[in-house]
Amino acid sequence: MGGIKTLHVNAREPYDVFIGEDILGETSCFACLEGVRDILAVCDGRVLSLWGDALERFFSSLPSRVTVMTVDSAENDKNMDSVMRAAEIMSSRGFSRDSCVMGVGGGAVTDLAGFISDIYMRGVKLINVPTSIIAMTDSSVGGKNALDFGGKKNLLGTFRQPSMVIADSMFLKTMSPAQLGEGYGEVIKYDIISGRDISLIQDLPRMIYECLSLKADFVAEDEFDRGRRNLLNFGHTFGHAYEALSGYSISHGAAVGYGMKTVCAWAAAEGIAPGSLYRDLVGKLDSRGITGMPGMDDDDVAELVRYDKKNSGEDVRLVVAKRPGELETVSIPLKDIPSVLGKARSWM
Ligand SMILES: NC(=O)c1ccc[n+]([C@@H]2O[C@H](COP(=O)([O-])OP(=O)(O)OC[C@H]3O[C@@H](n4cnc5c(N)ncnc54)[C@H](O)[C@@H]3O)[C@@H](O)[C@H]2O)c1
Repeated sequence: MGGIKTLHVNAREPYDVFIGEDILGETSCFACLEGVRDILAVCDGRVLSLWGDALERFFSSLPSRVTVMTVDSAENDKNMDSVMRAAEIMSSRGFSRDSCVMGVGGGAVTDLAGFISDIYMRGVKLINVPTSIIAMTDSSVGGKNALDFGGKKNLLGTFRQPSMVIADSMFLKTMSPAQLGEGYGEVIKYDIISGRDISLIQDLPRMIYECLSLKADFVAEDEFDRGRRNLLNFGHTFGHAYEALSGYSISHGAAVGYGMKTVCAWAAAEGIAPGSLYRDLVGKLDSRGITGMPGMDDDDVAELVRYDKKNSGEDVRLVVAKRPGELETVSIPLKDIPSVLGKARSWM
């Protein structure tokens, strides 16, 4: 696939995702920026230091005035302090309701930018320029945003769809092999959801397109995550707990990998899914450097699972894969979560 591939996302307010390699300088966002005087570009500091020249050229090609806010610690800055910093910049520079927030970075930064865009003056435009594998294949599309709060992952958040997304795979060239490999945790999730080997596609723009088309289908059907879209959360119920308990030293992609392993091992132990599903998953995760399991206390994990947004009353709604391409949600009493974890571990 050469050039720019465009994916249309049929949300309540539809938008386009432009996907390709080295497309940042080519994409015209002028239509979507009509009437926008100011843009707050919320940029990952590492990305800015690696891609400063390309980003500078991109910003100066835009018809709006761009103010850059740097976020240095990605996940550890996905919090209210960063939102306050953005609000301070935007209000002191006279940003109006016709402004735009642009997230330039990995998923932590696009989540943060989305949140800021939704609350400044009750909502301004959002554009995402994802730079990591997770942000390109997942978080920059779909309109969910989040902040971590009180040691809990993604506790605060809103829905705000972007007006445009530019997914340029050139950015992936500067991710470290370990970061890139761990980011594949989320792509392997799409393998299980689709029943296809998307994570093995070598052509990165094509792989990004495949992931995002799947996501776009879920979003079109269930934009506000009340039903089918929950299935995209496969691996996240335990994954978010592992991530938060590690103080975010376990990356999101690796944590989702561990979360999927836990659920698949438990499902195999219960006879809900074949053991081959777990073994295939482990093979793919191992090949990306997501190995072993974090050694965490089951009660501590269960305590954080309490805050999973899919829960209903005292029941945890766990997304389980019965086989590749066939997932369902299973209700489990919160009090039984330590035993689920124990069964999964014994089966592994
Ligand atoms: N909103 C959603 O639908 C959704 C979906 C999936 C994940 N997420 C969120 O996304 C986050 C995980 O995404 P992530 O792994 O991108 O996290 P991240 O933003 O923390 O980025 C990971 C690391 O990669 C670095 N990085 C990013 N782009 C780079 C580049 N081009 N070159 C070199 N380094 C680069 C960052 O500096 C950071 O250190 C989590 O906060 C997760 O909750 C949100």
